[in-house]
Amino acid sequence: MLDARYSFRTNTCGSLRAENNDDQVVLAGWVAKRRDHGGLIFCDLRDRSGIVQCVFDPDASGEAFVIAERMRPEWVMKLTGTVRPRPEGTVNPGMDTGAVEVLITSAEVLNTSETPPFEVEAGIDTDETTRMRYRYVDIRRPEVLAALQLRDRVTQRFRKSLEHRGFMEVETPILTKSTPEGARDFIVPSRMNPGKFYALPQSPQLFKQLLMVSGLERYYQIARCFRDEDLRADRQPEFTQVDIEMSFMEQDDVLQMMEEVMHEVMKEADVDLQVPLRRMPYSEAMDRFGCDRPDTRFGMELTCLTETFATSEFKVFASVLSSGGRIKGINAKGAGDWSRSKIDALNQLALDSGAKGLAWVAFPTEGDVRSPIAKFFTEAEMADLRDKMDVESGDLVLMVADAHDVANEVLGTLRLRMADELKIERTGFDALWVVDFPMFKYDADEERWTANHHPFTMPFAEQVDSLEDDPAAALSYSYDLIMNGLEIGGGTLRIHNADLQRRVLALLGHSAEDANEKFGFLLEALSLGAPPHGGIALGLDRLVMLLAGAQSIRDVIAFPKTSSGGDPLTGAPDTVSARQLREVHLKTD
Ligand code: AMO
Ligand code: AMP
Repeated sequence: MLDARYSFRTNTCGSLRAENNDDQVVLAGWVAKRRDHGGLIFCDLRDRSGIVQCVFDPDASGEAFVIAERMRPEWVMKLTGTVRPRPEGTVNPGMDTGAVEVLITSAEVLNTSETPPFEVEAGIDTDETTRMRYRYVDIRRPEVLAALQLRDRVTQRFRKSLEHRGFMEVETPILTKSTPEGARDFIVPSRMNPGKFYALPQSPQLFKQLLMVSGLERYYQIARCFRDEDLRADRQPEFTQVDIEMSFMEQDDVLQMMEEVMHEVMKEADVDLQVPLRRMPYSEAMDRFGCDRPDTRFGMELTCLTETFATSEFKVFASVLSSGGRIKGINAKGAGDWSRSKIDALNQLALDSGAKGLAWVAFPTEGDVRSPIAKFFTEAEMADLRDKMDVESGDLVLMVADAHDVANEVLGTLRLRMADELKIERTGFDALWVVDFPMFKYDADEERWTANHHPFTMPFAEQVDSLEDDPAAALSYSYDLIMNGLEIGGGTLRIHNADLQRRVLALLGHSAEDANEKFGFLLEALSLGAPPHGGIALGLDRLVMLLAGAQSIRDVIAFPKTSSGGDPLTGAPDTVSARQLREVHLKTD
C-alpha cells in the first residue's frame, strides 16, 4: 500500500476519508481533471493510491487560485489545504474519497506537461501501438495500473507461499547455452570469444535440475524466459515463469503443493479455487475435447461415430476406416440454419488444421435435413447418428474421418471456433490437471521422434525397459495446469539416471558425441549424485491475464512487445554501429 512516508506529503490522495475532515494536508500528484465552475476551480488530483477532489476558491486559496487557472491535465502538483465534507448533494458514493474534498491554500507546480497523447482515463479506444509508445502515460490509467498491482500481489503471494513451504529463491544465468525447449533461441555474440554465442534461456530447466543435484531440494525463481517464436495474444518473446523444482518427491507431491499454493495465490484476485483439482489423462482430453488444454466450461464434446459408419457406403468414410482411422463428430447446437458459405469457411478451417475434408449434416427444422453426403447414409446410420449425437432441430453435426489424432485435433479446433461463433457462455474459473502425456511425438517432416515436453522427462517406470521398442506407446510423468482452456503451467518428473538420459537422447536422434557436446554437463551431473526430482513452471503473465480478465498478456506486462516483437517506446530492436558489430565479430550485408 502506498502511504505518505518518505515523501514531502502528509497524506496520499486516495486515502482521504470523512475522518480526515479539518486535517491540514500536503498532497502530491497529477492533475486528472480540471473544471472551471465560474468562480471556483475544481481539480481531481491523482497519485498511485487514487484520486481526490481539490477546490480552489479565489477568497480562500489566494496565490494558489492563480496557479489553478493555468493548471493543465497531467501537470505535477504539490497542493496544501484543508479536508472538508463535500456540500450536501455533491457526495459521490462511487468514489473512495467521494465524501470529502480539499480546500487548497497553497499550490506549487512541480512540473508542467504537454497535452498527453490520449486521455488518462479508463476505457479509451486509442490504438495499442500509441498506448505502448507512451506506455508510461498509459500506466497512469486505472485498468493498466490495476493489472500491474494485481501482478504485484500475485507475485508477492507466490514468493510468500513458496518461502513458507521451504523453497529457496535462486537466480540462474541469462547468458547461457541453449537448452532445447522447442522454440528458437535468442542468441548473443560473445566479444571475448570470437565466433561464439550465448543463448538466452528458454527456461531455467537445466539449471534448476543442477540445483537439485547440488542438494538445494526446493528451488523457485520468478524467472524471465526468452523464446523467439511467432507471437500471439498469450505469447511474448520474453515472459515470466514461476519456476519450481523439488527433490525426493513423487508426482502427487508436486501437484498437491501446487494446488495449495495456487489456492493461496488466487485469493489475491478473490477467486476461491476449489482443490484438489481433477486430473484428466492426456488421452481422455484428446478423445473428449480434441485438445490437450481443454476448455471444460462448455460441452460440445467429441463423439466417436466409427461404429455408426462401420459398414458405410460413403467412400470417404469406408476408406478411412479400412486404413485404421476413425470417424468422430461434434454437434454444434444452434448452427443448424447456417448458410453454405459459413459452413464452407468451417471446411476451410478443417483443411487448414490438417483434415482432408469436413462432413456435415444440418438439421435446420423438424424433419428437415441438409447435407451433401447424407444421401450416402442408410436410415439405420442416420438414426444412430441422431441418437449418438443427441440431435434436435437447430443442430449442425460436423464430422471428420481421419487418423485418430488428426480427427481429434481438427474437431478440437472446430469446437472452439463454434463456441466463439455461437457465443457460448464461458464464465467462472475452471481448472484441472492434464496428466500422463506421451513421452514422444513423431515429427513426420523430419522423420524422427521428438520430446513431447522436453528430453529430461521421466517415462513411466514400467515402460522404461521397452522404451525403444515402442516409443509411441510410452507415457511420461507429466502434468499441465489448465485453466479456462489456457495452459497456465506444465512440468514433469525428471530423469535422474545418466544411462536412461543417454537412452532417451539417443531415441531422439542424438548421437553419443552430439549428446555429450550438447548435454555433457547434465549427463555428468546425473552421474554425480542426482536425487530423484521434478518440478513445474507456471506462466505468470498468463495467470495474471486470466485473473485480470484481460484479453492479452500484453495488458499485464509493464513494457510489452508488439506482435512483431518490437517495442514502440524505445524502438527496439534497432541497428547498432559498425563498431559494435566489429567488436562482436559480426558482419551484416
Ligand atoms: P513450458 O515450456 O511448458 O515448460 O513453459 C511453462 C509455462 O510458461 C508459459 N509460457 C509462456 N508464456 C508467455 N509467452 C510464451 N512465449 C510462453 N511460453 C510458455 C506457459 C507454460 O505453461 N522448463 C519447463 C517447465 C518444467 O518442466 O518444469 C517449461 O518451460 O504458461
Ligand atoms: P469428396 O468425395 O472428396 O468430394 O468428399 C465428399 C464430402 O466429404 C465433402 O463434403 C468433403 O468435405 C467430405 N470429406 C472428404 N474427406 C473427408 C474426411 N476425411 N472426413 C470428413 N469428411 C470428408
